Amino acid sequence: MKYHAVKGTRDFYPRDMAIRNWIVDAWRRVSLRNGFEEYDGPIFEYLDLFRAKSGEGIVSELFHFTDRGERELAIRPEMTPTLARMIAAQAASLPRPIKWFSVPRLCRAERPQRGRLREFFQWNADIVGTDDVLADAECIFVVLDFFREVGLTPQQATLKINSRSLLAALLAARGFAPDRHAEIYTVLDKRDKLPPEVYAEKLESVVRTPAERSDLECMIQAHGAGGLDEVAELARGNEAAEAEIERLRELFKLLAAMGVADYCTFDMSIVRGLAYYTGVVFEGFGQGALRRAICGGGRYDQLLTVVGGPPMSGLGFGTSDVVMLDLLNEFGLLPAEAGVSKHVDFQVIDAAGDQSHVVLRIVAELRRAGHCAEFSYRRGNLGKQLKQAAGQGAKWAVIVGDEYRQRQALAVKNLGTGEQVERSMDSFLADPVGQPAATP
Ligand code: HAM
Repeated sequence: MKYHAVKGTRDFYPRDMAIRNWIVDAWRRVSLRNGFEEYDGPIFEYLDLFRAKSGEGIVSELFHFTDRGERELAIRPEMTPTLARMIAAQAASLPRPIKWFSVPRLCRAERPQRGRLREFFQWNADIVGTDDVLADAECIFVVLDFFREVGLTPQQATLKINSRSLLAALLAARGFAPDRHAEIYTVLDKRDKLPPEVYAEKLESVVRTPAERSDLECMIQAHGAGGLDEVAELARGNEAAEAEIERLRELFKLLAAMGVADYCTFDMSIVRGLAYYTGVVFEGFGQGALRRAICGGGRYDQLLTVVGGPPMSGLGFGTSDVVMLDLLNEFGLLPAEAGVSKHVDFQVIDAAGDQSHVVLRIVAELRRAGHCAEFSYRRGNLGKQLKQAAGQGAKWAVIVGDEYRQRQALAVKNLGTGEQVERSMDSFLADPVGQPAATP
């Protein structure tokens, strides 16, 4: 019987692994230069952690199981509940603001499709312990700093920003009781993901009268440069909504000060699917064929208390290797070297056919000095070995041949320029990448 990878999962052959590492390295580099510290947690948690905290959407996509101790467990579908649980456990001793990032392997039992798999790697960066709008700006900047790092322009990827508290204040003023908001958000989040007739049906099930539905539809139309002004008109006299509009205006000014305003637009239709968001929410979209969100995040005010911690506000975002690589490939932004899985510095060649012990001594010393040194099990046939060295992308070939037999000298060939020099064994091993101090 032949086995293959389960649908929605991937095998990472060395080239795929190099590409995965390339993107994870970029996420780490950007996180660290923005002052974030790395953390991780277990790959499975109590099912209950996600049941109450993530909301219906994610819970229906959980891989869960019962262990031998009858505990109900789930493989993590997202990182935020784990982050909240970890921070809640040590809240008193952690200096604030807490700026942490992680690149967990996540599993969601969703239907595999373009940009969505059942197992993926998701970069998360969160700022917890403050509700300052400066943190909103800094967190959003981090994801845009990554866009710039990989060469994505505002024409290729944009970020749509809204606020759940703004939406909540407007809904409440229109007679939608707060206990109805969560189900309304869940449906609104599906607006662009479902066929229009299915969406309409779902909306009807939570917002019953046509008047309410058209009111809601009209409200979430506001977007773009004039969108905030339009909403300000709707919000006139509504203190909570006005305060949130001011906060959003300040956020856009801060993003402009950081030089990333071109990526950002206001969009009232962004509500996000997860249950815990309470403040600013945002989603990124590529301007290519992929229609799904490429990143998403927002502010959560109650998540820490829900997992037994003190009241602490936080915000963060997630984005995955699947969507990012799809987008980068589409725009030709994935450099060829991203897929290089082996970086050979020196290929040490036994050209004489009987010098294995010398070759292995050189290889061992080079490796001890931190260089990647390779050799072939094939002895002799210089031409074939040089070809193999070039094929592996080796920078230098170190040839143990006639010169070594005659005068203990090595021929060191720069495979980039073709230049070849003769070096004594001692001088070469003392400084392999340097120029020969003296020819032997
Ligand atoms: P999310 O919207 O569920 O948010 O996921 C964030 C991003 O993860 C998506 O925009 C997409 O790029 C990627 N993603 C989600 N599901 C899949 C999948 N099945 N396959 C590939 N990529 C996927 C969260 O997960 C929040 N916990 C993010 C967050 C962090 N909020 C605050 N802090």
